[in-house]
Amino acid sequence: MADPSFDNAIAILGGTGEQGLGLALRFATAGRPIRIGSRSIERANAAAERVRAAVRGAEVSGDENPEACRRAQVILLSVPFEHTASIIKEVRDALTAGQIVVSMGVPLASATGGSATQTIGVWQGSCAEMVAALLPKGVHAVSAFQNVAAHRLHELDRPVECDVVVSGAERPRKQVMALCELVPGLRGIDGGAIANARITESITALLIGLNTRYRVSDGTGIRFTGLPDGDS
Ligand SMILES: NC(=O)c1ccc[n+]([C@@H]2O[C@H](COP(=O)([O-])OP(=O)(O)OC[C@H]3O[C@@H](n4cnc5c(N)ncnc54)[C@H](OP(=O)(O)O)[C@@H]3O)[C@@H](O)[C@H]2O)c1
Repeated sequence: MADPSFDNAIAILGGTGEQGLGLALRFATAGRPIRIGSRSIERANAAAERVRAAVRGAEVSGDENPEACRRAQVILLSVPFEHTASIIKEVRDALTAGQIVVSMGVPLASATGGSATQTIGVWQGSCAEMVAALLPKGVHAVSAFQNVAAHRLHELDRPVECDVVVSGAERPRKQVMALCELVPGLRGIDGGAIANARITESITALLIGLNTRYRVSDGTGIRFTGLPDGDS
């Protein structure tokens, strides 16, 4: 049941980047109000305008990151792994118990000058578990969307064709799985406890290597077989 303290909007922090903007386009197409967050109100407004131009009737605003969070039940954290802690610090005081913060970050070795086909160790075990440790009490961390290529999100005339492993506590996990179903070709997969984000995040490094070896410019994705229909 929807919590009356929150509205139906999806906030996307760093929604000015390719991944966040792609998700904004898809969720706006599904009819959800979108709040694009940025460190710069000008960049946020420009990204909101791009969504309005692409999606007729889109309900989208551009805000600075803390303002974007207020009253949104779901907040997507769409910034590179290495900026995750600083962005949570920026918005911490705007967060309220009951909100869901979705971690999409991947600790790629490129963050420290290495290869994007490898990951680096994170003290807490994964980017998502680091997010969980940094959030205020009562704000839920959920891991999702790390294996979805931005390029495919932007091609609105094509289904995305990717499974999304969603991990975290049961109730927020189910809410984020339901969000996946709003996007044609995405399927939310019950990824259990948030510690499984260690596996999901490392798959992204593998996909980046596949993109290079198979010369896939619009990005590879993942599909699980053998799961019961309608009960993923
Ligand atoms: N790109 C993909 O195909 C893809 C696929 C799967 C998962 N992801 C994940 O999605 C997230 C976003 O990816 P992306 O490719 O969209 O990233 P990006 O374009 O490099 O950055 C996204 C946004 O992060 C904000 N940002 C940059 N530096 C920052 C800093 N120092 N502090 C705070 N915010 C900063 C910027 O927003 P403002 O300047 O407007 O504040 C920027 O537009 C990442 O966690 C990535 O792992 C991406």
